[in-house]
Amino acid sequence: MSNPSLLILPGDGIGPEVMAEVVKIIDWYGAKRGMAFDVSEDLVGGAAYDKHGTPLHDDTMAKAQEVDAVLLGAVGGPKYDNLDFSVKPERGLLRLRKEMDLFANLRPAQCFDALADFSSLKRDVVAGLDIMIVRELTSGIYFGEPRGIFTEGNERVGINTQRYTESEIDRVARAAFELARKRGNRVCSMEKANVMESGVLWREVVQKVHDADYPDVELSHMYADAGAMQLCRWPKQFDVIVTDNLFGDLLSDAAAMLTGSLGMLPSASLGLPMANGRPKALYEPVHGSAPDIAGQGKANPIACILSFAMALRYSFDQGAEATRLEKAVEQVLADGLRTADLLGEDGVTPVSTTEMGDAIVAALDASL
Ligand code: NAI
Ligand code: MG
Repeated sequence: MSNPSLLILPGDGIGPEVMAEVVKIIDWYGAKRGMAFDVSEDLVGGAAYDKHGTPLHDDTMAKAQEVDAVLLGAVGGPKYDNLDFSVKPERGLLRLRKEMDLFANLRPAQCFDALADFSSLKRDVVAGLDIMIVRELTSGIYFGEPRGIFTEGNERVGINTQRYTESEIDRVARAAFELARKRGNRVCSMEKANVMESGVLWREVVQKVHDADYPDVELSHMYADAGAMQLCRWPKQFDVIVTDNLFGDLLSDAAAMLTGSLGMLPSASLGLPMANGRPKALYEPVHGSAPDIAGQGKANPIACILSFAMALRYSFDQGAEATRLEKAVEQVLADGLRTADLLGEDGVTPVSTTEMGDAIVAALDASL
């Protein structure tokens, strides 16, 4: 059997810097755990535009469809701000998500103990927090028709349409239940069934999928506004939250900030299973290309490294190895290592991007 395949798209700004540290981790797994990956690398975003005049070459798109998982750094930067919308770096990322049909966006909010004081909430509320938001990513109000700005009588009207089919709700609900079985076995579904028909259908379909195929998973429903309050009040009550594109956009950003720095936040976007049973998958940090610190060795590589941990767990069924990597990250943080974005006010000297990566590799070694 051939090795699992990875396509690496470092992108722009700090993307290549943080991805270089992920490559060290990938190499470690090959050398020390006998888990060799077939790794290929290509351009995306501004880097692809510079070479090909397009933020994602067709050949790169085709490769992304074939591999077991895509790892992306970040795209964009001031150099590309004045480009036409059709060739902006972000379009490369949007094309990947759309053509791979990545409908389930997984955003964990996890609080490492060593960083609990970094949160804007009390240590008690966030220490040990480990929740997962599953956001529907390819439908809903960002895509529904009709949309636009029209004239009605003597004034203009702006229209967007929240639209979900049963099958769109069904597939993202299944993704959430499958995830829950690998975690705390609880799903909370959020919508606004009290005021939106699409929310009524959402609640019905999620319940139906549960009753038919996932009766072992504990399911609850919550109105999304109440969910936002509960996320701030006592986030540890949740395990997996599943919600639509719009509410997921807001709730996942809010949940992310419970735990501190952008430099710590990974994500996964999953689609339907391929012929080999693995889902189409794109893993990327939540942060952007951080032009303000690019090229200075200041970027925190942990968000990108934790994105690879998600790949180990969700694409390659290596949950124990994913946990090993997460524990290595936890260890270096407990040892007091901090990149510049994680500094409080206690005068710790920050480590560089490569020092952080090397320390995590050393912690992996120590785990054997
Ligand atoms: P950003 O996430 O790049 O940066 C926001 C702030 O967080 C900056 O001060 C940055 O230095 C800091 N930061 C981000 N990641 C960090 C890391 N790993 N380590 C340490 N500090 C980190 O968002 P911003 O500044 O709004 O956008 C910059 C560029 O990135 C823009 O061109 C934007 O379009 C693009 N972008 C790309 C995304 C992607 O590729 N998925 C997502 C968000 C923005
Ligand atoms: Mg957002």
